[in-house]
Amino acid sequence: MEVIIKETPEQMARLGAELIAEVVRRKPKCVLGLATGSTPVSTYRELIRMHKNEGLDFSRATTFNLDEYVGLAHEHDQSYHFFMWENLFKQINVNPKNVHVPDGMAKDIPAFCRWYEEQIVKAGGIDLQLLGIGSNGHIAFNEPGSSLGSRTRVKTLDERTRADNARFFKSMNEVPKYAITMGIGTIMDARQLLLLASGAGKAEAIQKTCEGPITAMVPATIVQLHPKAVIVTDKAAAVKLTREYPAEPRVLVLQ
Ligand code: GLP
Repeated sequence: MEVIIKETPEQMARLGAELIAEVVRRKPKCVLGLATGSTPVSTYRELIRMHKNEGLDFSRATTFNLDEYVGLAHEHDQSYHFFMWENLFKQINVNPKNVHVPDGMAKDIPAFCRWYEEQIVKAGGIDLQLLGIGSNGHIAFNEPGSSLGSRTRVKTLDERTRADNARFFKSMNEVPKYAITMGIGTIMDARQLLLLASGAGKAEAIQKTCEGPITAMVPATIVQLHPKAVIVTDKAAAVKLTREYPAEPRVLVLQ
């Protein structure tokens, strides 16, 4: 696991985008696992810039998103479908047929989750999975206590997660209680992981993720077991780390 600490959130975002772009350039038919939340927005902005100014080509790429709220229509401005189209898909040349975001409106959620897992396998597996981290150490919507071997399924959201995400909704009451999420086992099957974290609110979760014992109580700690994982943080998210980490990748592990 490689931990890289950048000075600013902008530098974190730029390195994140460079690492993703490298995968797209080396393997145009790549399968990207994508994330939502505020953290990846600036990374997506940089990828859009690379597409527009440098011709970064997503036309043969396939994408799978990590998660989606249950009960929000695709057009709802807080659904992750809406988020992904607004913040990335609309502005790059990805083929809409190759885009996958879990369907929070699915009538039969367990059947949908099985189908989603099958689609990932059919696509050849995920080459690079982008991750954010919750302040409680969750990845995707795998809340503390999630099985470290879990697959795509419905999860009840922690009150802390609902409170963290309430800033995007009119009131706490509107924050969904359930989400469909790739499981931790699903995420760990990706060939490479790239976890981005920014801001002081993530400092404790990042310290545990990088230096703590692996535990289902902090789901992101599982990343320690992945043979090809990179964590990029800004300075604020790194303040509680006790070891020294570089500001540049030592080995560019993503390919
Ligand atoms: C949500 C998402 C996660 C994301 C987390 C952190 O709960 N399901 O995938 O990592 O938020 O979001 P933010 O980047 O806004 O702090």
